[in-house]
Amino acid sequence: MKIIVTGGAGFIGGNFVHYMVNKYPEDMIINLDLLTYAGNLETLKPVENAPNYKFIKGDIADRAFIFKLFEEEKPDVVINFAAESHVDRSITDPESFVRTNVMGTTTLLDACRTYGIKRYHQVSTDEVYGDLPLDRPDLFFTEETPLHTSSPYSSSKAGADLFVLAYHRTYGLPVTVSRCSNNYGPYHFPEKLIPLIISRALNNEELPVYGKGENVRDWLYVTDHCKAIDLIVRKGKVGEIYNIGGHNERTNLEVVKTILKALNKPESLIKFVTDRPGHDRRYAIDPTKIETELGWKPEYTFDTGIVKTIDWYLNNKEWWEHIISGEYTKYFENMYGERL
Ligand code: NAD
Ligand code: TYD
Repeated sequence: MKIIVTGGAGFIGGNFVHYMVNKYPEDMIINLDLLTYAGNLETLKPVENAPNYKFIKGDIADRAFIFKLFEEEKPDVVINFAAESHVDRSITDPESFVRTNVMGTTTLLDACRTYGIKRYHQVSTDEVYGDLPLDRPDLFFTEETPLHTSSPYSSSKAGADLFVLAYHRTYGLPVTVSRCSNNYGPYHFPEKLIPLIISRALNNEELPVYGKGENVRDWLYVTDHCKAIDLIVRKGKVGEIYNIGGHNERTNLEVVKTILKALNKPESLIKFVTDRPGHDRRYAIDPTKIETELGWKPEYTFDTGIVKTIDWYLNNKEWWEHIISGEYTKYFENMYGERL
């Protein structure tokens, strides 16, 4: 099979490319990525010379380019990870999220329809469901939970999901959609909470915690997400949505304190800063459907996954130090300059 993975130079897409190239030597994995600030070819070093791997630089929202690529490559499967993915950036620049997340998705869908594919998979997020109250631990997101987005990021992802499902209903395109909770693990860009805290704590820098640090996220180790997507693409039912999560809820403050303890760093590094506007309170996934229909079970709990993640950051300083020393430094000053 020839599989186009978009956004494969990013965090989850990169981990997915590693997983697929190693697991399926008979398949050809084409990594299509624009290499925005979040795309990093250093992430692909472990697979760059594999005979079943190829990288192509390009924009999923560039219609002429995408159609030419599909004409030349004739892919069997398309798995769309490419996105603008950071909520804070979506608050300052919503338009780039509409362009890549919505228009990029519809461009890929049109190419899939024109050239005929066996499966299109959309990598989506639990953030499309909005948030849950902090005082109702009995509530979880199921696939039937209504879409109720809070941020420009989640709104653009929900819009994309609706187009994907509409292309199934209207044109019979063989699609699946997965909605996963927060991921963490190797190659995670240090603008997101866990890698940000690890890298800054290692440099003895202040750690920005939004509001009181009471917001809850449901953390999934990235390879558990990759395995779930592989399973959905191969065995999931066309036209269906699958939620992915492993019941690993933590408040942000718990996450930060766990990392500080593991690194033997003081809690005095924590700095409570102005809250994110519209900050979602709690995300929590009910994964019953993927567990019962497809037999998926996560391998890692938060306690085992966070140890593995911290080890990776300790052993791969070069990877994240290259990022921190470049473009990202300017972003960090703009985003946090007055807050820290
Ligand atoms: P990321 O920001 O690390 O990577 C995104 C990648 O997409 C980058 O390599 C970037 O260069 C590429 N890209 C951006 N715009 C592009 C364009 N127009 N054309 C081609 N490539 C482009 O994101 P991530 O955290 O790896 O997330 C991947 C996907 O998973 C996203 O769709 C995101 O919505 C979804 N998701 C993420 C999480 C999470 O916790 N990170 C959870 C659930 C779902
Ligand atoms: P993030 O990693 O941006 O993921 P998402 O917003 O998609 O859940 O943030 C995770 C949580 O951590 C979220 O509640 C916001 C919070 N947060 C901080 O408290 N400080 C920070 O510097 C960042 C980046 C996030």
